[in-house]
Amino acid sequence: MKYELPHLPYDFSALEPVISGKIMELHYTKHHQGYVNNLNTALEKYHEAEKQNNIAAMIALQQVLKFNGGGHVNHSIFWTNLAPVSKGGGEPPTGDFFKALESQFGSFDSFKEKMSTMTVAIQGSGWGWLGFDKANKKFVLTTCANQDPLSTQGYVPLLGIDVWEHAYYLQYMNIRAEYVKNIWNIVHWTNVAERFHSAQ
Ligand SMILES: [Fe+2]
Repeated sequence: MKYELPHLPYDFSALEPVISGKIMELHYTKHHQGYVNNLNTALEKYHEAEKQNNIAAMIALQQVLKFNGGGHVNHSIFWTNLAPVSKGGGEPPTGDFFKALESQFGSFDSFKEKMSTMTVAIQGSGWGWLGFDKANKKFVLTTCANQDPLSTQGYVPLLGIDVWEHAYYLQYMNIRAEYVKNIWNIVHWTNVAERFHSAQ
């Protein structure tokens, strides 16, 4: 089976002014496509190594699979976590999900502040995540380095913020904090809440 780029549910320029069309185009057609291509190549090599019972080659490929498979998984979530303002992007959550967020973090603003601070502080490339801890039935705020998927920490991903420089540098230069502050204006909370409800 070959992995493919998922359909992007809006135009490249639809998230402007928060994320420029040029960033979106490069991010989707070059970066995400690159993870998909490399994932497919690594899987072919892995199957070949498996046929030859070449355990050393299989182990060596696992890091490549984690990186590119993680890149594919993370970006596939990220595109749906965002939406143009005209399609509900930035509209605050409601219902059970909103109540659960407020109950754990004190307030919606306090949650956003905690997630922003944590995400801006990531050293190098990585992701800030709101996840769900199924064992303890609680939200978790955590970060992942590089393209490590949140599942490697045992949590269900709900909302991810990509802070690789490819996600913002063309527009925000080195001011990552401004990008993270603005991204709240295009978070598609309906999608995040759906992920929360399926995780339960
Ligand atoms: Fe990215």
